[in-house]
Amino acid sequence: MTFRARHLLGIEHLAPDEIRTLLDLADTYVELNRRTIKRTDALAGMTQINMFFENSTRTQASFELAGKRLGADVMNMAVSQSSVKKGETLIDTALTLNAMHPDLLVVRHPHSGAVNLLAQKVNCAVLNAGDGKHEHPTQALLDALTIRRRKGRLQRLVVAICGDIAHSRVARSNLLLLGKMENRLRLIGPPTLMPAGVGELGVEVYDDMKAGLEGADVVMMLRLQKERMDGGFIPSEREYYHRYGLDAEKLAYAKPDAIVMHPGPMNRGVEIDGEIADDINRSVIQEQVEMGVAVRMAAMDLLARNLKAERGRQAAGVMA
Ligand code: CP
Repeated sequence: MTFRARHLLGIEHLAPDEIRTLLDLADTYVELNRRTIKRTDALAGMTQINMFFENSTRTQASFELAGKRLGADVMNMAVSQSSVKKGETLIDTALTLNAMHPDLLVVRHPHSGAVNLLAQKVNCAVLNAGDGKHEHPTQALLDALTIRRRKGRLQRLVVAICGDIAHSRVARSNLLLLGKMENRLRLIGPPTLMPAGVGELGVEVYDDMKAGLEGADVVMMLRLQKERMDGGFIPSEREYYHRYGLDAEKLAYAKPDAIVMHPGPMNRGVEIDGEIADDINRSVIQEQVEMGVAVRMAAMDLLARNLKAERGRQAAGVMA
């Protein structure tokens, strides 16, 4: 097994062989999740705490299901009813929960770097469920699994990531992962929604959808992340949809077998036409959700193995 990580804080810290190990294990969990009985005991006796300081449907639900299917005791901290509302800091909250001896801590936070900081203060494995504009590693891993299963490989593909790149942790994690796997990456969107220094990322940049989609194998659409915008970045949603919304006319420029992806939540009629999103011959959006459970099971399984091994070594050191 090649997976050395102690935490899953970002794709930045993963080597290609670790990514392949995680995806291979996730493939086995896809099969398990399609059975009637979905339980295994990989995390039996272990405790998982989910702390979501930002709204979530897919990530929160799939981490909870993943932990339960692996046999863990899963606790979802209700942040809106917690002492965070009385002014307790993220670190004090984490230290309080750490004193209850969790083994896995899953954290989503609106501030970039908050999850990394927290990981330095606790003695369990920490998984980043999305931090600000920084990273969303399990999203990139589930996207990679979806692409690998659909295309039969994860190399030498032309992948177009379209829309609000500047505010997107999904785009950042995907660029890192797909870049490590030697794909040809394109970013498409208005210049106002491109990150600073985009020219130094080693990717192709387009502000015209049709030119950017030409010959693409994978079309990944992104939501306008208004919650992270502090001003006007587009003239209007109607204008944005006209120029950058994915519809049949624009999609025709990609390869005939190109797949359409979206991490969700979607805004139909803003970044994507509803009919394209629902087209089972092109859209893999629901498959991405399915892969999310399997990838999160694989990530927690691998981190739990490393944690058990580390604790075993510590115990042996104490005995010696
Ligand atoms: N893709 C994603 O992170 O969705 P949620 O915000 O619903 O978790």
